[in-house]
Amino acid sequence: DWSDEAVIYVNGVRRVLPDGLAHLTLLQYLRDIGLRGTKLGCGEGGCGACTVMVSCYDQTTKKSQHYAINACLAPLYSLEGMHIITVEGIGDRQRGLHPVQERLAKAHGSQCGFCTPGFVMSMYALLRSSKHPPTEEQIEDSLAGNLCRCTGYRPIIDAFRVFAKTDDSLYTASPSENANGQAICPSTGKPCSCRNETDVNANESSTLSSVKVYLPCSYNEIDGNSYSEKELIFPPELQLR
Ligand code: FES
Ligand code: FES
Repeated sequence: DWSDEAVIYVNGVRRVLPDGLAHLTLLQYLRDIGLRGTKLGCGEGGCGACTVMVSCYDQTTKKSQHYAINACLAPLYSLEGMHIITVEGIGDRQRGLHPVQERLAKAHGSQCGFCTPGFVMSMYALLRSSKHPPTEEQIEDSLAGNLCRCTGYRPIIDAFRVFAKTDDSLYTASPSENANGQAICPSTGKPCSCRNETDVNANESSTLSSVKVYLPCSYNEIDGNSYSEKELIFPPELQLR
């Protein structure tokens, strides 16, 4: 009987937790099953290297909710009935990087890389839990629990700025719009949130007069009506629990 099992999903894969693992944190479990992208830094909730996204289903609103948590602090069994997404679950070089990973790499937001999975998952969880693009302030707040000893943070914040609400006046080429004012994707011709990579010439006298800006492609449709094919959805089985 499945209702007697302690079930979690990890990166879309169903896992039954056996008895006898009450001494484990989620982080120890993830690393034990081979998901070593999630790092052990401080082990006490201070550094964010172990950040993963946890999704649970709200029976009242009938919607899944997403949170970034420190896996080093979460007792394994407390995650029963939830979906855990780690950095391995959102993209890699073989399947293709997720826009969050791609941005961090392109903007030199990763040096030794130890903190990187944590930053990626904090940003990813913010995007998945936001209906609209977050503000720059919300992005900075969401990274407050992530420490980096290498980069000085600026490249990381700069990398993720493209996920914030943008000021259209910064872009020389605005996306075309349909009659309802929705942006039209230049590649699919359908309404979406993506824009082309654009040369920014916001201010001729600025030293940043020609900066390449890579804008994310439809990331905020992840939890909209059209799931991105690559994106992991909330497991239907867990909605019934
Ligand atoms: Fe530092 Fe979890 S390992 S917060
Ligand atoms: Fe080394 Fe952040 S890149 S700790």
